[in-house]
Amino acid sequence: MTPNSHIKILMVVGARPNFMKAAPIIRAIGKHNDLGKAPEIRHLLVHTGQHYDTMMSDRFFVDLGLPKPDMHLGVGSGSHAEQTAEILKKFEAALSQEQPDIVIVVGDVNSTLACSLAAAKLPSAPHKSRPLIAHVEAGLRSFDREMPEEINRVLTDHLADLLFVTEKAGLSNLRHEGISPEKIFFVGNTMIDSLLAFKEQAHQSQILDQLGLRAGEGRNGSGRPAKRYALLTLHRPSNVDECSSFQEVLEGLSDLTRRTEIIFPVHPRTRRRIEEFGFERYFRSVANQQADQRIQGIRLIDPLGYLDFVCLMKNAGLVLTDSGGIQEETTCLGVPCVTIRENTERPVTVKHGTNVIAGTSSSGIRKAIARQMARKVKPCVPEKWDGKAAQRIIPILISSARKQFAACAVRAEAVSQPI
Ligand code: UD1
Repeated sequence: MTPNSHIKILMVVGARPNFMKAAPIIRAIGKHNDLGKAPEIRHLLVHTGQHYDTMMSDRFFVDLGLPKPDMHLGVGSGSHAEQTAEILKKFEAALSQEQPDIVIVVGDVNSTLACSLAAAKLPSAPHKSRPLIAHVEAGLRSFDREMPEEINRVLTDHLADLLFVTEKAGLSNLRHEGISPEKIFFVGNTMIDSLLAFKEQAHQSQILDQLGLRAGEGRNGSGRPAKRYALLTLHRPSNVDECSSFQEVLEGLSDLTRRTEIIFPVHPRTRRRIEEFGFERYFRSVANQQADQRIQGIRLIDPLGYLDFVCLMKNAGLVLTDSGGIQEETTCLGVPCVTIRENTERPVTVKHGTNVIAGTSSSGIRKAIARQMARKVKPCVPEKWDGKAAQRIIPILISSARKQFAACAVRAEAVSQPI
């Protein structure tokens, strides 16, 4: 950045849960520039390619109105080390080429950590510092180091210069880890910015009709209310990668399947495990009409785009998940949520929201479902989950870049002084 000129930002996305967190920031940057505010923000979108299937990536660009990535690193799948290393190498080259003032990373996926690490290790020159690293969704902790996401969160937060926090627990977590309070900003939740921005559009989705989930007979269309159904997502390695753990979870759902239909948009990881473990009998899909009679209600469908998924979530009687973000979205929508995990890094969804932590045993899952079916829940809006998180982030980025520039100018001046 030069005084009164522009700030250059690289925004990183890589995997499905990143897209809805990044979209509001890109929109807020566009608005800032359209209003002719200074400094101009030049912005490049970098897709690492961690997720690459149409339904895990491209469809979200369409649904969320995201611009086409300016750079695609095309890293694809691999072990954690392979994927992280590949992103590190390719993102370092992108940084050297583009020389941004700020790198923004979101969430807790391998792309988040790898890009922060590449940026943190760039050498600073007297007249140009390494880019500032901004982490959106900082401070969340499950305190479970078995989760790859927890490692990504902790390390990214310790590399970041600007930590944008979604809920108050994040503030105390970062304080306990000794992170300087000047770096920490409680701004709200950009994923909820997306939810609020697209909720009405999601209402127009045809997915309920496509899946035959409208109640009653009569005219086709969105006038009729939804049938009662539950929505399931499962993809955590700890739930689906081990045959016995996966089976335990499926057994925990067996009572519910007798009472209600369960719709399961299946992640590619989980689909592979279903085939590998020979679990097809648990599911009803076009390919398998011979499902086990006890649990035939679980209906397997392909992964969905953002608008269709929000529509299914909004109309569901119950959501069952091991995702992080869905716990937050259901809280805002006032839909009861059963989290099939031993912990959550998002405690506000349990304390004030609609979420219960079931654990991963079949008895724990059954109990949590029974509790949620009997409970009356209402939408809850945690503090600052008001659709304005991205708006709060932009001025902080600008003032931090200005400070960085001023510090750099002082350093360059000192270096140029004759001894
Ligand atoms: C990643 C994130 C997780 C996030 C999830 C959302 C990490 C450590 N994990 O997990 O936090 O909740 O995304 O989906 O970053 N695959 C495809 N097509 C794709 C992407 C993946 O077929 O577009 C397959 C690959 O074969 C891969 C497997 O799914 O081996 C898992 O993908 P990966 O990106 O490694 O992790 P996720 O389980 O998706």
